[in-house]
Amino acid sequence: MKPSPALLAGIFAAFAFSWFGLTVVPQEQIGNLQPEVDEEAGTVYPMVPSGLAERGRQVYHENGCVYCHTQVVREVNAGADIARGWGKRRTFAKDYIYENPIAIGYVRFGPDLSNIGSEELLDPSTGAARHKDAAWHYQHLFNPRSLVKNSLMPPYSFFFNVRKISGQRSEDALALSGTDAPAPGYEVVPSADAKALVAYLQSLDRGQDLKDAKASPLAKLVNSPEGAVK
Ligand code: HEC
Repeated sequence: MKPSPALLAGIFAAFAFSWFGLTVVPQEQIGNLQPEVDEEAGTVYPMVPSGLAERGRQVYHENGCVYCHTQVVREVNAGADIARGWGKRRTFAKDYIYENPIAIGYVRFGPDLSNIGSEELLDPSTGAARHKDAAWHYQHLFNPRSLVKNSLMPPYSFFFNVRKISGQRSEDALALSGTDAPAPGYEVVPSADAKALVAYLQSLDRGQDLKDAKASPLAKLVNSPEGAVK
């Protein structure tokens, strides 16, 4: 049977239409996003990441952090992300322009890490700063349960090396106690990958004001504390 030209045209139109809607339109909308420059304040956002943080981003992907942690903050009407202290505002496409691949994540087995490096955010349940220093991150990676009771995050102790103390103790040696403590005369130090990973975590701060954020119809709601879902 010879297919009718109308059928062929219909099939072609269906593919052409989806290609247009799923490829051309998004490319037009977000394909060429540029950093936002605020000349008055003298700021550029997002900034090109440092080489160390960029390496850390690769370590993050290589080690499956992305399977348990998201990096996307939803609007107040779409979830309690802002109320949980995961960000001051929702995230936008512009927040990710220097990332490829983007670590949006799959499921939230652990907390969202979009702003784990931000110094301003507080954890609403404890009132403690969400920002952690490098020593906290090292110990948490080495053995999450030594800092967070019953944590379900797997230990990443292979990121660390045990070595004999020769002369002075290393500056970034972990202060471990109990069963984690190394034998006397030895110390546990972060590997180059651990240092890069922690530099990356500390660089995660997507709270900068954006024009997109101000233009969003929900911006007023999102930016006001009353808007936050309790
Ligand atoms: C099997 C799931 C799982 C994987 C894989 C995982 N995590 Fe976690 N992570 C968790 C859970 C659950 C928590 C919450 C409990 C805690 O703080 O230990 C957490 C907490 C954290 C926190 C503290 C967040 C906060 O708000 O206090 C950081 C930072 C973190 N993870 C980083 C990482 C990094 C980096 C990796 C990859 C090397 C990783 N996680 C891999 C489950 C996971």
